[in-house]
Amino acid sequence: MANEKDLIIPGHIAIIMDGNGRWAKKRLMPRGYGHQAGGKTLEKVSEDAYRLGVKYLTVYAFSTENWSRPQQEVDTLMNLLRDYLKDSVKNAKKNNMRVRVIGDISRLDTDIQDQIRLIEKDSAQYDGLNLQIAINYGGRDELVRAAKKMAKAYMAGETDIGAVGEAEFNGYLDTCDIPEPELLIRTGGEIRVSNFLLWQMAYTEFYFTDVFWPDFDRAELVKAIEYYNGIERRFGNA
Ligand code: IPE
Ligand code: IPE
Ligand code: MG
Repeated sequence: MANEKDLIIPGHIAIIMDGNGRWAKKRLMPRGYGHQAGGKTLEKVSEDAYRLGVKYLTVYAFSTENWSRPQQEVDTLMNLLRDYLKDSVKNAKKNNMRVRVIGDISRLDTDIQDQIRLIEKDSAQYDGLNLQIAINYGGRDELVRAAKKMAKAYMAGETDIGAVGEAEFNGYLDTCDIPEPELLIRTGGEIRVSNFLLWQMAYTEFYFTDVFWPDFDRAELVKAIEYYNGIERRFGNA
């Protein structure tokens, strides 16, 4: 692409931040070191995305499957998330960033849940970048929770099941008031979705890169956006 200024910037980018462990291993360091570096990368990349004009950024930080990792790694990840959420209070202000968490937070330590409620409330006033952090998130889990919410609403006489269409069902998802991502980026070389945003990515464009997440930067983000710019989006049309 000749000129960065000519790029069409996707309104919503989703990122599967993968490869922290292998990045650390390459440096003969423990996996936690990679997760720590990954946290720093998230801070930088969210600012880059904001400056490029991205309105929504949704990042996969911890999946419903990640609980099966060794307890020590789970603890490390939770501690990093704890610190990240605390720091977010000032970062949100600096970057005019609204932070929200998607996923089932009821399984998280209560102090992390409190921190999430605090940052969501505190940053609700900012309208520069909307950052969604997926924690204990699984696409299937989100769909099951949505179906349960809808069943509850039905039992309470609040919904007419016959009239439920895609838009109404969408309203029960964690992402109910967030547009669908135009572009998914997965770092770390794997070509799979790993249970991320299953409903929301029905027509998302996928960009995979071998770059490990801690090495991802503004130049890599621009590459992904250039890839997106080269695609013809048809949505089922001829
Ligand atoms: C992504 O990095 C971070 C999380 C899944 C929490 P990984 O920890 O999966 O790193 P690799 O894939 O083992 O290199
Ligand atoms: C996906 O990465 C989840 C996150 C980035 C949080 P994983 O490393 O957990 O995915 P798999 O195991 O390679 O599918
Ligand atoms: Mg991985």
